[in-house]
Amino acid sequence: MKLFHKKLELIDHLDHLRKLGSDIGFVPTMGALHNGHLSLLKKSLLNNKVTVVSIFVNPTQFSSSTDLSTYPNKLKEDCSLLKTISDEILVFAPDSKEIYGDKMYVNSYDFKGLDDFMEGEFRNNHFEGVATVVELLLNVVNPDTAYFGEKDFQQLQIIKSLETNINIVGCKTQREKSGLALSSRNHKLSLKSKKIASNIFKNLTFIKSNISNHKIEELTNIVSDKINSFDQMNLEYLIIADEDKLVPTDSINLKKKYRAFISVFVDGIRLIDNIALN
Ligand code: PAF
Repeated sequence: MKLFHKKLELIDHLDHLRKLGSDIGFVPTMGALHNGHLSLLKKSLLNNKVTVVSIFVNPTQFSSSTDLSTYPNKLKEDCSLLKTISDEILVFAPDSKEIYGDKMYVNSYDFKGLDDFMEGEFRNNHFEGVATVVELLLNVVNPDTAYFGEKDFQQLQIIKSLETNINIVGCKTQREKSGLALSSRNHKLSLKSKKIASNIFKNLTFIKSNISNHKIEELTNIVSDKINSFDQMNLEYLIIADEDKLVPTDSINLKKKYRAFISVFVDGIRLIDNIALN
């Protein structure tokens, strides 16, 4: 495993490998790695000669400074975990100056409505921050393929919509046995809150099983009440939207694909998840 803090050093190293004919897979992360990240990395290791992971907690995608300051920072543990799957991974762990220069900024984008609802509605400028850093990281690594998890499905669709000639691959959400989607934020949950949080996926599967025999409004009302009936859970949104345009719908057109998207605070920790419905 090689650790790079400076982008020029990584660029030089990758140029050399590219000249030798290596294809490059890339997994951008904000660290606090878990099995979800490892599954993306395994996919990259399987399909590319070279795999790069970036570990950078990107300040411009956080809407709250507390959320940013309490985001787990675990570079040493992350590197140890990476070694359990391969000694060959290249780790890029820059600081903010290395990524943004002297002053942090976000670019402006027209995401063509992909950011109108769900995370885009509840997290101010979140996707501008994500798209800006992803473009900056892609410019450094210049991979053939980059891998992103479907847990952040809206993020995945927005990244796919960016103008790059890089192959963007979405990978299935990894879950605990209880169904809870793996997330770096789960570190902040107590065992008891984790158990309660597993009701998020249970309710998403309830939607999937009942989508054909209930009206969408009825179904989302039932599930919203179920989630809010737990003292520890507070629903932020529950939306059924089509996969392509991410526009909420109140009826299913069998020619399109839909997902249910949910955001819930569990004991104050914000968790998101989604499920494919058809
Ligand atoms: O999904 C994440 O971890 C982040 O949003 C990403 C894509 C690494 C950008 O900071």
